[in-house]
Amino acid sequence: MKVAIIGTGYVGLTTGVCLADLGHHVICVDNDLEKIEKLKRGESPIYEIGMEDLLRKNLKEGRIVFMNEIASAVKESEIIFVCVNTPPKKDGHADLKYVEQVTKEIALTQCNHGDYKIIVDKSTVPVKTAEKVKETLARYGAKEAMFDVVSNPEFLKEGTAIKDTLEPDRLVIGVDSEKAKEKMLELYKPLIDKTHVPVKIVPVRSAEIIKHGANTFLALKISFANLIAFMCEDVGANALETLEAIGLDARIGSQFLKPGIGFGGGCFPKDIAALKKTLEILGIDGSLIDSIERINETAWQRFVKKVEKELWVLDGKLIAVLGLAFKSGTDDIRNSPALKVIEVLKANGARIRAYDPQAIENARKVIPDIQYCSDPYDAMKDSEALLVCTEWEEIKTLDPKKIKETMAVPIVFDGRNVFDPQKMKKAGFTYFGSGR
Ligand code: UGA
Repeated sequence: MKVAIIGTGYVGLTTGVCLADLGHHVICVDNDLEKIEKLKRGESPIYEIGMEDLLRKNLKEGRIVFMNEIASAVKESEIIFVCVNTPPKKDGHADLKYVEQVTKEIALTQCNHGDYKIIVDKSTVPVKTAEKVKETLARYGAKEAMFDVVSNPEFLKEGTAIKDTLEPDRLVIGVDSEKAKEKMLELYKPLIDKTHVPVKIVPVRSAEIIKHGANTFLALKISFANLIAFMCEDVGANALETLEAIGLDARIGSQFLKPGIGFGGGCFPKDIAALKKTLEILGIDGSLIDSIERINETAWQRFVKKVEKELWVLDGKLIAVLGLAFKSGTDDIRNSPALKVIEVLKANGARIRAYDPQAIENARKVIPDIQYCSDPYDAMKDSEALLVCTEWEEIKTLDPKKIKETMAVPIVFDGRNVFDPQKMKKAGFTYFGSGR
């Protein structure tokens, strides 16, 4: 089928490349010309395992093209995915101005070209957005019988985006017409045949709530894990064993119960704030979400307090920070707890040497005035404390003996529980984990 993808961010690019790989003809559109040129050359603007290989393969086989013009992409396609960003406004509301802009352009193109089109909301949007999209299409001249608006939320995680898209846990397709349902099932047939993925066909409004609901529940699990971890730390229990045992109940499940310095990224903080806003508008008590957010802030703040308590005076101390990205497998630093920790230490006079396998370039744009190192051992050279803020495999496998020889004072604050406390103590470290 012929598909247009508007917006080549994380979600748009992954969706485009994967749909091309499933055999569809995909036109990806973005208004960032530099990005489009890069993509045409087969260079991925984001760090994501497998992305560049799949991109190059599909470029070579002629199933994916990149351009910066919406109109011709719309004319050529049966299905148009809207994958533009929906950043948070100050009050928590999702800012839908890019969704509106793109919808308007689609309408202006479509009113001159009478073919039936499906417009798919792939961006994470609040409930009832599809209705606004429909109204906008009509306002700018698209005939109602000539389009359907579908909600098809994306559940991919940064770092495993390709795998999550090609081997998803479920497909959610929110449709309000039989015609749109048939077309969407035709689009995903190669994936359904290959993976036998469960498909949930639901009304559009339900699909919109599923996405925000799923992200909020995952954030809730992390904050719950951190709450238990705070308690374990204070009474001398082990949060990892405690949470593992809690998660063994099949009704609870063991995933997303890892305590640490909290969640970040471009999705959870934004999406839970948007859901809270929707609840507020509906007059429903959203204090559960306030608690998720509060615990998430406490997680990194407690970590900093631990450092302050142990090191006493921060002014002038040389501190190594390993991990800047909000999680491993990505160069994304949006809402990264690592950067919040660094800002406080820096404000208290600490000298920071930082290392991350992928995120240094992005971190430098936000915090230019610390020292960045291209090697983890270089970052910890002569340091008086070592802080682990992201759970990179490379950091997990560092040699404790070599760490000890490199540091001036062997104190480790492990914000992601990447090291074995017994081994670290045996190697001569003063070791602080999270929740143990
Ligand atoms: C999240 C969801 O997991 C995806 O399903 C969703 O599609 C995506 O948002 C989105 O809305 O686009 P992502 O933000 O890429 O994906 O990252 P996650 O792997 O969910 O991790 C989020 C944060 O939670 C990270 O900072 C991670 O370190 C933290 N985390 C995760 C924990 O602190 N503990 C855990 O047990 C798990």
